[in-house]
Amino acid sequence: MKVLVVGGGGREHALIKKLKENPLVTEIFAYPGNGGIAADAVCVGTSATDIDGIVEFAKNEKIDYAVVTPDDPLILGAVDALNEIGVPCFGPEKKAAIIEGSKIFSKNLMKKYGIPTAAYEVFENPADALEYLKTAPIPAVVKADGPALGKGVIIAETREDAYRAVESMMNDRIFGASGTKIVIEEFLTGPEVSVLSFTDGKTVVPMVSSMDHKRALDGDKGLNTGGMGTVAPNPYYTEEVAKECMEKIFLPTVDAMNKEGRTFKGCLYFGLMITPDGPKVIEYNCRFGDPETQVVLPLLESDLFTVMRAVTDGRLAETEVKFKDGCACCVILASDGYPQKYQTGFPITAPGTLPHGAEIFYAGAKNKDGVLVSAGGRVLGVTALADDLKTAVEYAYDAAGTVHFENARMRSDIGARALAAEDID
Ligand code: AMP
Ligand code: GLY
Repeated sequence: MKVLVVGGGGREHALIKKLKENPLVTEIFAYPGNGGIAADAVCVGTSATDIDGIVEFAKNEKIDYAVVTPDDPLILGAVDALNEIGVPCFGPEKKAAIIEGSKIFSKNLMKKYGIPTAAYEVFENPADALEYLKTAPIPAVVKADGPALGKGVIIAETREDAYRAVESMMNDRIFGASGTKIVIEEFLTGPEVSVLSFTDGKTVVPMVSSMDHKRALDGDKGLNTGGMGTVAPNPYYTEEVAKECMEKIFLPTVDAMNKEGRTFKGCLYFGLMITPDGPKVIEYNCRFGDPETQVVLPLLESDLFTVMRAVTDGRLAETEVKFKDGCACCVILASDGYPQKYQTGFPITAPGTLPHGAEIFYAGAKNKDGVLVSAGGRVLGVTALADDLKTAVEYAYDAAGTVHFENARMRSDIGARALAAEDID
């Protein structure tokens, strides 16, 4: 079967490597993929948001199945467009992808259906927001309604910062049209847990939990990034927390989407905070996380292609989804300066086989005259597995140390918080 994967980051590389394990998958195309993915898939097209181009390609190439991963094409309706020409897909339709596409939609959904989340107010004009902030609890969290490349959230530690956040979003439009409307919400505290789940709109199967490291620098300092590394499982996600999440968050969310006529099929990502009052939803994503996928999928024991097709066909309840017992750690190698200014174009060298069976998932990499060079902020991730988290972290750093490009930078404390939490337990 010919499979098309829409996207071109480390997450898509991890997906593609896993899809290739199924012998039914004879050819994989990545739209647009990247120079590193080119070793595992045929890379075509230039952009994951070129819906017309994707549809045209799928039609001409007679694609049998498509996996749409990034938020933008999902929110734009890539799955609807592919379904229209008869290509079955993994991923939600546009009307369900709104769960990530609009923060106001998702907050109102949670309020309507009693799903635990931070208290909030919605504002459509800056004057009302500024008036509200005069007496609102501080810190306050100011969020742009629409998608903003994961950057549309400002945590304001002072009232002045909160005023500035509103002005920058609603007047200066730092996130463009995404800041036309905003949400101001209560600041929550507690460890964060990412739970990706498979759902066909009837059954929801959580994958192994994970922990992202979003800040650029060690000790969770510096600017927010797309994610500098991940570990799985997340020690804060105990069996008790998992049970509570299933009852109060996962099933109610899937039900709520059905009741709204927006059945969600695909990977529903729950960004959770384990607060003193129990788990609460920080955000929903309508897709696999990056770099969560790079630790979650290597731990998947069941066949990914089989599970994905079961999701598409509404057969998830009858399909086994099993994870290995071990642990995984992914360390991101970024271009120094990321997430701000950085230089690219440096040759990447890596041994043919990494120590400890570790794997590389390429993100910002391209082929230049036959040489693989850095081409983005996050260049690649190195994932290692082991029986315990401490060893997985050691292995990942050992393996990451064998991969080089000028200007490379990684955090040195991926997994440290998780290991400290394990010690407390
Ligand atoms: P998001 O883009 O929604 O994932 O938000 C980015 C980060 O901001 C999250 O990972 C949290 O660390 C933080 N955050 C978002 N909402 C809240 C909140 N209500 N309280 C505390 N931190 C938050
Ligand atoms: N790593 C967070 C995300 O994919 O949104």
